[in-house]
Amino acid sequence: MGFSSSSSTNRFLTICLLSLLAFSVNGQLNPNFYATRCPNLQIIVRSVMAQAVARETRMGASILRLFFHDCFVNGCDGSILLDDTANFTGEKNAGPNMNSVRGFEVIDAIKTQVEAACRATVSCADILALAARDGVNLLGGPTWAVQLGRRDARTASQSAANSNLPGPGSSLSTLISMFGAKQLTARDMTALSGAHTIGLARCTTFRGHIYNDGNINSTFAALRKQTCPQSGGDGNLAPLDIQSPTRFDNVYYQNLISQRGLLHSDQELFNGGSQDALVRTYSTNPAAFSNDFVMAMIKMGNVSPLTGSNGEIRLNCRKVN
Ligand code: HEM
Ligand SMILES: *[C@@H]1O[C@H](CO)[C@@H](O)[C@H](O)[C@H]1NC(C)=O
Ligand SMILES: *[C@@H]1O[C@H](CO)[C@@H](O)[C@H](O)[C@H]1NC(C)=O
Repeated sequence: MGFSSSSSTNRFLTICLLSLLAFSVNGQLNPNFYATRCPNLQIIVRSVMAQAVARETRMGASILRLFFHDCFVNGCDGSILLDDTANFTGEKNAGPNMNSVRGFEVIDAIKTQVEAACRATVSCADILALAARDGVNLLGGPTWAVQLGRRDARTASQSAANSNLPGPGSSLSTLISMFGAKQLTARDMTALSGAHTIGLARCTTFRGHIYNDGNINSTFAALRKQTCPQSGGDGNLAPLDIQSPTRFDNVYYQNLISQRGLLHSDQELFNGGSQDALVRTYSTNPAAFSNDFVMAMIKMGNVSPLTGSNGEIRLNCRKVN
């Protein structure tokens, strides 16, 4: 009796172990990829990010967004980091990125230090994944083990950046389908949108929402109109989270319940539709948000990575070798 129960326990544990192994082989990435190749990698990334965020809190947000915009365009392959040249059109000037994504100098500063410690070893795509995690954590959010082993693209696609990244006017069904195209569920989408608990947006991205939208708190709309006029002031900034814009917390979801989402796409998550219940859960249960956000970040980080002998380890994140 004792014997048979312990052997079935063993069999159960063996199956668990095998499925863990199968999972990591399938995913191709793993958190220990650089453990012997570049043992100080994570310390370097963390310390440069800590300095950058100390200089400007917004940088934690900006780097997190860079990672999202990298992963959604042909996978997490560092393609967003490539500069345009006379012969090459990259992603930086695609509609969703131009005059908007920022933080490239911070990635360059990390890369310089990483190259000095471990030459031609660590991809820009992995540096971005680690820096995004540290940005979240430095602003009070969770931390997690980042899957590593991505390689860098030798090309980029402005047209894919224009078509794969959701815009701020997107409806709930568009958001669900654009995330679905990356194998991310509606739940993943709603959790990842919680990234808008930090950072800023330009007037041009939320003007339509504050002037012409029914699903908005009128006191909030009036406040935002003060610095985002009907015409002009396109670049004027407002916080995505009106209450705690430099703190990575679950207040974003509380804002949605009081109809104070800044972007139309934010408020779509609480519009009487399929995501309302989840928004309510996240608004009262920070641990539920945190857990789902971390799981969804890991999933997003697994979108079509280049591995093995595909791609390259770029020496300068702005250009192919
Ligand atoms: C659900 C669809 C999403 C839409 C439509 C969207 C759209 C936007 C827009 C329009 C801005 C303001 C850009 C500007 O004014 O220049 C913004 C900012 C931001 N987004 Fe998103 N976003 C989405 C999802 C995400 C996801 C999944 C993440 C990360 C996991 C993210 C992270 C951020 C951050 C942190 C900022 C602030 C950046 C800064 O202050 O520099 N967003 N987003
Ligand atoms: C552009 O292509 C030409 C011809 O192949 C090459 O000589 C030149 O160095 C390239 N310029 C850049 C900036 O890559
Ligand atoms: C609108 O926002 C104010 C705070 O600015 C809040 O007190 C009020 O409850 C909100 N209204 C609704 C309908 O949620």
